[in-house]
Amino acid sequence: MDKGRILIVDDDPIVRDVLYDILSNVGGYRADLAFDGVDGLEKLKRQEYDIIFTDLTMPRMNGMDFLKETQRMNFGIPVVVITGFSSIDNAVNAMREGAKDFITKPFRIDTVLTVASKILGERRLLNRISRHDDIESTVGKLNSELFKSLHEIGILQSISNEIDGIFSNREIYEKLVEMVSRLFMVREASFGIVENGEIKIEAGIGTTARTRSISGTIFERVVSSKSYYIALPGEINPHDGTALAFPFFSIPLTMNDEVFGILSISSKADGTAFTDYEISLALTFAKKAAMRIENNALYEVFYGNLINTLKSLVISIEARDIYTRNHSERVAAYALQVAEVMGLSSDDKEIIRFGGYLHDIGKIGVRDTVLLKPSKLTDEEFIEIRLHPVIGDNIIKPIKFFPRERELIRHHHERFDGKGYPDGLAGERIPLVVRIMNVVDTFDAMTTSRPYRTARTHEQAVEELIRCSDSQFDGVIVNAFLQTPAGRGASLGS
Ligand SMILES: [Fe+2]
Repeated sequence: MDKGRILIVDDDPIVRDVLYDILSNVGGYRADLAFDGVDGLEKLKRQEYDIIFTDLTMPRMNGMDFLKETQRMNFGIPVVVITGFSSIDNAVNAMREGAKDFITKPFRIDTVLTVASKILGERRLLNRISRHDDIESTVGKLNSELFKSLHEIGILQSISNEIDGIFSNREIYEKLVEMVSRLFMVREASFGIVENGEIKIEAGIGTTARTRSISGTIFERVVSSKSYYIALPGEINPHDGTALAFPFFSIPLTMNDEVFGILSISSKADGTAFTDYEISLALTFAKKAAMRIENNALYEVFYGNLINTLKSLVISIEARDIYTRNHSERVAAYALQVAEVMGLSSDDKEIIRFGGYLHDIGKIGVRDTVLLKPSKLTDEEFIEIRLHPVIGDNIIKPIKFFPRERELIRHHHERFDGKGYPDGLAGERIPLVVRIMNVVDTFDAMTTSRPYRTARTHEQAVEELIRCSDSQFDGVIVNAFLQTPAGRGASLGS
């Protein structure tokens, strides 16, 4: 039986060949190839097709223009667009222009085949119905239902792709509002967190409201019923207490069956009411976002626990050795002062704060007799203690979240001139935050008493840092350190 004929339009030979293989060799369809939109239109004039798969970015005539042209010329052939990594803009725009569906690169064989067979199935059904001399409206209605469900599947896939990559709740809130306002073409949309009888607007378009009591408003109703509510014109706008001029759609976002936020959309650009289809799409959308936010919350709890565990490890190491007690905390504090003077980003500061605290974590693998030895170390003992950066790196390695902290732990005994350990990195091959650690770690060691020597004075330590500028240390960082409160002689906390 003839499974159908498919036209593949793509300028990228690899994509074209892969699609051809999937559809023709695996799927058993007859497939033809076109190199771009112009070539595609030529093929359409000469041959009938059941589906078109087209890329969007192509020379001569891009996919969007090609799609518009196929619609304008009324070929009536369903078009599936191929987009690069998850772009809701491309996908939604193409759907608006009449595309039936889209697939994202890199695509899976089963996705391509499912899309093709679904569309061909619907096309056959529609052909059969129209042959049966049925009333035109039935066909039209069925067609638009099918279009809607496809449209919905496509949009939901994009939503999950877009939201899944975001780990900051604030960004999710902003994305949510931006996406609903685009999807439903509304002039007003907002997302607020509900807490202690108040709603705090975290992201909004077309609304300036910030924190308000929800008492007596439709928001209160949404929170207590835990279900959505569409207020009609004339009801009270919960943001500003005025009478609503447009329908106002509020959807609760729940976590553990409690409402924690409300997504509101209002003022559709075409002034119409929300349809059943739009309501169900918005509800699914809100549910998806709530799940993402819940995942983030779980992740934060997990991350917090992990950090506390690592910190207690450091405390247990320092507890063994009274001479280095609070060393890690001081080093992190000094390094942050340098970061401040150098104007480093908040990301860098976070690496310094946490990595600085953990830098000597590998000492947990060094024997007490070596770590606490009150006299000079033998060569062998010296080798053992010099292993601690590598041991620390190995402790952190299984935890995939901390790649830059790992660098700091592994390289905090490297020297600017390349004579340090364990890898002998030199100059700017040592990351900036690590070069900062090199300076402040040594400074703290010099100004703290050890069993075998008393602490140097602040002046002596500073002199030594300056003497070793551009050999052991990066001179730029020594300079920056000298401008910090600690570098100028202030003790921590003063
Ligand atoms: Fe160390």
